[in-house]
Amino acid sequence: IKRITTHVIQELKSKGEKISALTAYDYSLARLVDAAGVEVILVGDSASNVMAGHETTLPITLDQMIYHATSVVRAVKRALVVVDLPFGSYQGNSSEALRSAIRIMKESGAHSVKMEGGLEVRESIIRVLSAGVPVMGHLGLTPQSIYKFGTYAVRAKEETEAQKLLEDAKMLEEIGCYAVVLEKIPAALTKQVSESLTIPTIGIGAGPDADGQILVLHDLLGINKEFKPRFLRRYADLHGIITDAIGHYVDDVKDREFPTKEEAY
Ligand code: KIV
Ligand code: NA
Repeated sequence: IKRITTHVIQELKSKGEKISALTAYDYSLARLVDAAGVEVILVGDSASNVMAGHETTLPITLDQMIYHATSVVRAVKRALVVVDLPFGSYQGNSSEALRSAIRIMKESGAHSVKMEGGLEVRESIIRVLSAGVPVMGHLGLTPQSIYKFGTYAVRAKEETEAQKLLEDAKMLEEIGCYAVVLEKIPAALTKQVSESLTIPTIGIGAGPDADGQILVLHDLLGINKEFKPRFLRRYADLHGIITDAIGHYVDDVKDREFPTKEEAY
């Protein structure tokens, strides 16, 4: 199998082919995601919500991200594996950012890191890039700043924030990021940013004109019944399937229908 590299991702944009990306946090599901042909697997700090049950992405630690990343890397044969630098592991200064990125690369074997923010984290991103670590940017609704935003509503609806986002995106391309995630921004802004950059944009809640799309795997699979923002398309109802399967199992045990003689030694 030909491995997906950051260069392959960029070629897809030049060829006009859309890029598919999904999150994964563990070995078993990462194997399925990789085998299904997804090009980019993000070990997102959304693991803080999805895997650990936290309300935000802020609590997850670098060690926990490395644990998830290590499991995913073991599973993946083809996809590009990108790992989120978690909150607090890169914003302080650029040496701290480099140290965190190096730990992720060394200890997990991942291929790239993702960092949230524009101008504020420019020096940190430059330092990580200078060590030869590919960086994916992330602009718009950056969940590590949720307490600054106060809500998960669409970002950059006003001209000043939209202008800053466009400038940040150009800056990220200029310093050497190979791609940038655009989260929950108006579709028209996504179009403008994607046309202004040669590096690919990966959208989530950012409309049809991003060069690629990403979703949280558990959301796409419909595991959480309550979470249904407009941007989310559910491709399965695993909530129903899993609940039914487990309920059926409980009934069978109670009714002494499982296990049978045939299922015994
Ligand atoms: O952590 C995450 O899942 C993400 C994507 C939604 C872009 O950052
Ligand atoms: Na994230």
